[in-house]
Amino acid sequence: MKTRLILNILNQIQEKIEYFPIDISEILTESSALLQRDYPNLHITGIIDTYEGGLEFLKNYDDKKNLIIFLGSSFGNFTTDEGKEFLNKINSTMKDDDLFLIGLDLVKNKIILENAYNDSQGITAQFNLNVLSRINDELDADFNLNNFIHYAIYNENDQRIEMYLKSLVDQSVIISKANISLTLKKNELIHTEHSHKYKLSQIQELMHQTGFKIENTWLDKNDHFALTLVSKNN
Ligand SMILES: C[S@@+](CC[C@H](N)C(=O)[O-])C[C@H]1O[C@@H](n2cnc3c(N)ncnc32)[C@H](O)[C@@H]1O
Repeated sequence: MKTRLILNILNQIQEKIEYFPIDISEILTESSALLQRDYPNLHITGIIDTYEGGLEFLKNYDDKKNLIIFLGSSFGNFTTDEGKEFLNKINSTMKDDDLFLIGLDLVKNKIILENAYNDSQGITAQFNLNVLSRINDELDADFNLNNFIHYAIYNENDQRIEMYLKSLVDQSVIISKANISLTLKKNELIHTEHSHKYKLSQIQELMHQTGFKIENTWLDKNDHFALTLVSKNN
């Protein structure tokens, strides 16, 4: 959906658009087919690889100016060091006149954040528990999903949402294909995800440290989320 918003604008200003989505998941094939159906003038080269692998492929692809986009705050899942490494990698992939657009979730009221990760429809809970289903299916494990609940809290010191699966009972689990057997106590937590939040001043600092110059920043009306456009700081 987010990519389509950008394609709709680009469609108005250029006749042909080349698009190189990078995703480690084969879902890329399906999502690219849907985009192709709706945007006949879009030329899609899907790269099913890690972000790093995809960027390496793009580095020497051609001389055309690129806009690299990384939306949706996936960046928040990185630790500070991983994030810097990732930005350095993007920077070293870019040609001098390329641009990079990144979405980052901003520090905000703890209650707003915790409500977002404990949504009333339980979608984040399903997403979190899904990791156990995947381990059951793919690694032949015997997690009983009824024995866990989704648990998400905001850690103000570290400016991050921490997502866990909480064991509701004392239990043991076998993950056959990984040769792992584990015991969990009641209330013991399995850490599944961090989602870091940023202040605008931290975004500026991060970008300067990793060799970027900020061209523009857009905020929503509540200052909850930032889209930052940067170029290489030569
Ligand atoms: C939470 S989704 C976010 C998607 C998108 N950024 C958005 O906001 O709509 C994460 C996506 O990133 C992909 N992914 C996760 N880690 C990856 C990696 N290291 N390299 C490439 N793709 C990755 C997953 O397969 C998944 O499709």
